[in-house]
Amino acid sequence: MINLEKNYKLDMEKFKKYSFEFGFTKEKRHHEADLIFFYHKIEKGLSLPNPRVGFGEENVEYLLSKLENYVDKYHWDDTSIITLNTLYAYYDFNKDNNLILDDLFNRIEKLSRTLPKENTLSTGGIIELKKEQIDKSGINFKDFAYSRYSIRDFAPGDVNLELIKESVQIAQKTPSVCNRQSSKVYVYSDEVIKKEVLKYQNGNAGFGDRASKILIVTCELKDFRGVIERNQSYIDGGMYSMSLIYALHSLGVGTCALNLSVTNETEQALKRVARIGESEVLLMMIAVGNLPERLKVAASPRREAEEVMTVIYN
Ligand SMILES: Cc1cc2nc3c(=O)[nH]c(=O)nc-3n(C[C@H](O)[C@H](O)[C@H](O)COP(=O)(O)O)c2cc1C
Repeated sequence: MINLEKNYKLDMEKFKKYSFEFGFTKEKRHHEADLIFFYHKIEKGLSLPNPRVGFGEENVEYLLSKLENYVDKYHWDDTSIITLNTLYAYYDFNKDNNLILDDLFNRIEKLSRTLPKENTLSTGGIIELKKEQIDKSGINFKDFAYSRYSIRDFAPGDVNLELIKESVQIAQKTPSVCNRQSSKVYVYSDEVIKKEVLKYQNGNAGFGDRASKILIVTCELKDFRGVIERNQSYIDGGMYSMSLIYALHSLGVGTCALNLSVTNETEQALKRVARIGESEVLLMMIAVGNLPERLKVAASPRREAEEVMTVIYN
């Protein structure tokens, strides 16, 4: 019991130390998350069926000042450029509806004159789409999902790092709270370090050593804010991990999720070996490897939908 309390306390201290609102020191990553948090309010507003002309005035003012300070301190990067583009989209929307925001326009124009000449990043604001560009009801997701199994019998050979990279890129499309994208992926392929990190995981005996690579998914606590987001990393990171597993499956790579529910003590030790930052939360390891021609998998039968689904009529 004391151990449980101690671990919860350490979790809380970590959240207080690194998250946006409680932490004493703010680093670039905190400010980046703040830019995303506020530009998302604008892009979201613009995507509504009937945005109110002049909506979110206070948020826009905050975001603009924040962007000015950010660019001054850290110069331009993808996040600040997307913020600028979002502010342009907000300006254009209001202008199209006969609200000319001169001050906003002058300030974003002034900022944009400092953009690097080679900048080509034009995304931000909204994207206009046709239904057919979104409707993928033709794909057989059921077949795809039902064909994924946890693989504990990998074929020899290396899984090309490019396939991992492609999967991570696909997993980046995972929804995350306010699009803050806190998930990170560490890849271990060297035999010595793979063995070292696997020592901290308790469910890989008999197959972990045959994985071509071990991935560790983490979430950055600096991206989260306030009491209500104290557990958000597990939600965003869990969704991200699932996407990554599906992405790898879509590219023919075998995976097995490996739990990283560990004590704070083990977490510290693993982080040192695995070179993971203290401000990150561990989600899971994923063993990846090639699929053999023939293999056995655990049946892992599932409960029926009726058992887990409750329909509330009124
Ligand atoms: C977060 C998480 C942790 C897991 N940890 C382990 C593990 O340590 N060792 C293992 O062999 N399988 C592990 N699994 C795999 C599960 O046993 C498996 O997903 C489940 O039995 C369903 O089977 P399926 O993945 O083949 O559909 C884990 C799965 C998840 C989602």
